[in-house]
Order: sequence, then structure tokens, then C-alpha cells
Amino acid sequence: MGMIIAADLRRAIQQISRAVALDSAELCPQVAMALTPLTASADWLSPSLRRPDPDRYRRELLYQAPDQSFSIGCFVWGVGQQTRIHDHNSWAVVGVVCGSLRETSYDRSETGELRQGSSFEVEAGQHVWCRPESGDVHRIGAAGRSMAISIHVYGCAFDQVCRTYYPDLVEVMA
Ligand SMILES: [Fe+2]
Repeated sequence: MGMIIAADLRRAIQQISRAVALDSAELCPQVAMALTPLTASADWLSPSLRRPDPDRYRRELLYQAPDQSFSIGCFVWGVGQQTRIHDHNSWAVVGVVCGSLRETSYDRSETGELRQGSSFEVEAGQHVWCRPESGDVHRIGAAGRSMAISIHVYGCAFDQVCRTYYPDLVEVMA
């Protein structure tokens, strides 16, 4: 079982390696496709990796390309845990393995003010992506009342993913 699972990750790495040369608009759907076997089940992840940290979401590196052209991480979200509002230095593709995530995007006005934009849930087995070219200020975290696990692929080194963190917005309900 473990060996079959490892083969799935290895195959995804090979497919993503071939896709990274493409323009991000083309490559994101291909990366999402490559992740499909990895988001079909959590069984390939070691039990220690599947445990949430009660204090904050976990962010574990699974693979980084030697030339740093992409990296793959596993995020484990406890109930109610989410990122700060941020954007990225590269394209990003997220696939949900179990539970569900809520992603909220933010629009920036010309003066740099943030305004909450769309917000939607991403269920287990689904994939989403974002690109700096089309505006990627967002936050993401566990939706609902259960923990969640997701796999994230970025077009850069894992420790260089975030470009800017923004202060929390006071979200006023109209
Ligand atoms: Fe992000």
C-alpha cells in the first residue's frame, strides 16, 4: 500500500515538472489534474502528518524541486484555523484531501485598501488555483466543524511562497 501511494506522489511530481515550463494559465489546470490521485484519499499520508496542531494550522513540506521551480506541501487545519490575509510570489494550486476549506478573496482599490470579495467552499476532491497576474489576495482555512487536509503546489520554494501579509479586515456585515 505504502509503495503504491509513494508512486502516486512520484507520478504527480513528474507531471508537475513537465508542466512548470508552461504559462501559469495553462499549467494550473494541469497541476490540479496531477494532484487528483493525491486528493482522492488521505491514506497515503502518514498518521502523524494527519494530526492537527491545536494551536495553529500545520504546513509541512512534501517535496521541493531541486531547481526550486515548484514545491508541494501538506496543510493540516484544525477546526476554525485559517491563514492570515496574504498573497503569493507565484501561482498556487490547492487540492482538498478531506474536510472542506473556505477561500475568501480580497480586492485592492487603487489606494491599496482591501475589500472582501468572493468567498466559497472547496470540498474534498476539489481543486482551486490562483495567480498573481489576476489578483491573488486571499485567506484560506478550515470550513465548518471538522478538521481538513489539503495539498498545495506553488511555483517557487516553499519558504518563499508568501509575498505580503495584510492586516486583518474588520468585516462589516451589510
Ligand atoms: Fe495562499
